[in-house]
Amino acid sequence: MTLCYLNGRFLPLAEAAVSPMDRGFLFGDGIYEVVPVYSRRAFRLDEHLDRLQRSLAAIRLANPLSLDEWRALVGRLIEAAEWNDQSVYLQVTRGPMAVRNHAFPATVTPTVFGLVEALHTPSQAQVEQGVAAVSAADFRWLRCNVKATSLLANCLLRQMAYDAGCAETLMFRDGILSEGAASNIFVVNNGVLLAPQKNHLMLTGITYDVVLDLAAQHGLPTEVRDITDAEVRAADELWLTSSTKEVLAIVELDGRKVGAGETAGLPGAVFKQMYGWYQEFKTTVMRGHG
Ligand code: PDD
Repeated sequence: MTLCYLNGRFLPLAEAAVSPMDRGFLFGDGIYEVVPVYSRRAFRLDEHLDRLQRSLAAIRLANPLSLDEWRALVGRLIEAAEWNDQSVYLQVTRGPMAVRNHAFPATVTPTVFGLVEALHTPSQAQVEQGVAAVSAADFRWLRCNVKATSLLANCLLRQMAYDAGCAETLMFRDGILSEGAASNIFVVNNGVLLAPQKNHLMLTGITYDVVLDLAAQHGLPTEVRDITDAEVRAADELWLTSSTKEVLAIVELDGRKVGAGETAGLPGAVFKQMYGWYQEFKTTVMRGHG
C-alpha cells in the first residue's frame, strides 16, 4: 500500500481524491518538486524546498506550510515507504474554485499533495553506454524557471524523443541551448565544462548546481554562458542531469555520434570523472553529512 499526503492527512494513495474543479486539474495552475532520497535520506532537501518557495512566489501563491512542516511531511513519507531509495513528489495547486474562471478565486485553499515512489536511477548499461537524444525548437513559455505543473509542452517534447527510440529531447531557443524536456544539459569541449546560464528560459536544476559545485571543488574548468547550436553539434561530450537521472552521458544526437575518434558514441572521460564525484558525494549524503 502506497501512503500519500493530501491536505493535512496521510492516507493510502487509492483513497486520495481531489475535486475536478481544482485549478491544478483544469488549468495546470500549480507547482511541484521531485526530491531524490538515498538510503532514506533526502538529497539537498532544503534546496528543493527553497526552489518550491520561489516557484510559489512566482505564481503568487502563499506557501501553505512552514519549512519545518515541509521537512516533517517529507520525513513521514520517507519513513512510511517500502524502498530505501525513493523519489518524493510534492505539489501545490491553487486549489478548487466554485465556477470555472481563469482569474484567481477571492479565497484560495491550496491543494497540497505528497507522494513517494521508488527511485529509478539509470541502469548500469545506460551509465556505461550512454543514451541517445533528439533536438527540437523550444516552444515553451518564457517562465521556464518556474517548476510549474503545466507541463504539456514538456510532455510533447519528451514524447518526440520516445517516438524516436531516444531518452531525451534537447531544446534550442533562437539557436541557443536551453535544456532537456525534463533535465538540464551540459557540454564538454576541449576539457572545459560548459553550462547554460541560469535565466527564465530554463529550470535551474538542483542537480545542475551539484554538478557545478563538484566541478569547482575538483578544479574542472567551467564556463557558464550561452551555448550555441553549433557548439552542441561539435561537442566532445554531452550530459543530461536531473534528480532522478543524476548525471548521464548523451552519446548520440539526432542520429549522429557525439564526440570524435575512438570514444565517439561512448561516454567521455570527463563524464566518467563527474559520475564518480557524484556517486562519492551521494555517499556523504547517505551518511548524513550532505
Ligand atoms: N524534472 N529542467 C526541467 C525542465 C526539468 O523538468 C527538470 C527535472 C530539470 C532538472 O532539475 P533537478 O536537477 O532539480 O531535478 C531541469 C523532474 C525530475 C521531473 O519533472 O520529474
